[in-house]
Amino acid sequence: MAATIELRSLAKTYGSGPQAVYAFGPADLTIPSGSFVSLLGPSGCGKSTLLLMIAGLLAPSRGEILVGGKQVSGPRTDIGIMFQDNTLVPWRTVEGNVALQLEMRGQKPSAHAGRISELLRSVRLEDFAKRHPHELSGGMQQRAAFCQALVHEPDTLLLDEPLGKLDAMTREGIRADLQTLWMKRKPTVVFVTHSIEEAVQLSSTVCVITPRPGRIECAIDIDLPWPRDLDVKSTPEFTGHVHRIQGIFRDYGVI
Ligand SMILES: Nc1ncnc2c1ncn2[C@@H]1O[C@H](COP(=O)(O)OP(=O)(O)OP(=O)(O)O)[C@@H](O)[C@H]1O
Ligand SMILES: [Mg+2]
Repeated sequence: MAATIELRSLAKTYGSGPQAVYAFGPADLTIPSGSFVSLLGPSGCGKSTLLLMIAGLLAPSRGEILVGGKQVSGPRTDIGIMFQDNTLVPWRTVEGNVALQLEMRGQKPSAHAGRISELLRSVRLEDFAKRHPHELSGGMQQRAAFCQALVHEPDTLLLDEPLGKLDAMTREGIRADLQTLWMKRKPTVVFVTHSIEEAVQLSSTVCVITPRPGRIECAIDIDLPWPRDLDVKSTPEFTGHVHRIQGIFRDYGVI
């Protein structure tokens, strides 16, 4: 079962003295096992910083992160992570890049070939499995990176604007895929986005983050029924949540 993630008085400052940048926090938050939590906030408010700390790739300046009750003190290999800029290696094919995630965890890609093809098919990349990243569009690269994050079937997914570079149609398709995957396997998902509508559509909880240094202004539970398709966006409940969040960002002068 996916673990609960707890942030306790968590803060990050880059540098020190007059050059210091107060990037995030302090913040307290509990992300329950199997929830889909969006981090929604303006550029520079510390969303990527927070995700890197949860992944154990960046040490907090203050406070701590607990996963399943244990303090995160180094990189975690049990998670799936998708960075804001994809990390495909140029010398490997698309399927080779996806397989790399298994190899790094000591698993044999040949034993999971079916899963790799199925994942690539689900994001419509099956015809590009043998191509290299430079032969793909930006959106296709992002879809390949999405497969990388999922291939080892992690029970925690940290996704940093995974749909940011996708066109509107592909974006809607992958949102649906992500929602289906989450409903089926119930990983804990931490999802960074700038899009209020996307956050409300996908999340069980939306964390609204203030401008830098990012603090969690509020965590709004979205109690709309699942699955949430395009039609949900025209319901009064959906638009009510969107308007409330817009109001918060308007008060901060962000929009
Ligand atoms: N490695 C770093 N060294 C120094 N400052 C940094 C570093 N990484 C981020 N920052 C600063 O920390 C703040 C938060 O950055 P971060 O990348 O976490 O924001 P973000 O919310 O992910 O923004 P965006 O939505 O634009 O991706 C910014 O002011 C940024 O300049
Ligand atoms: Mg970022």
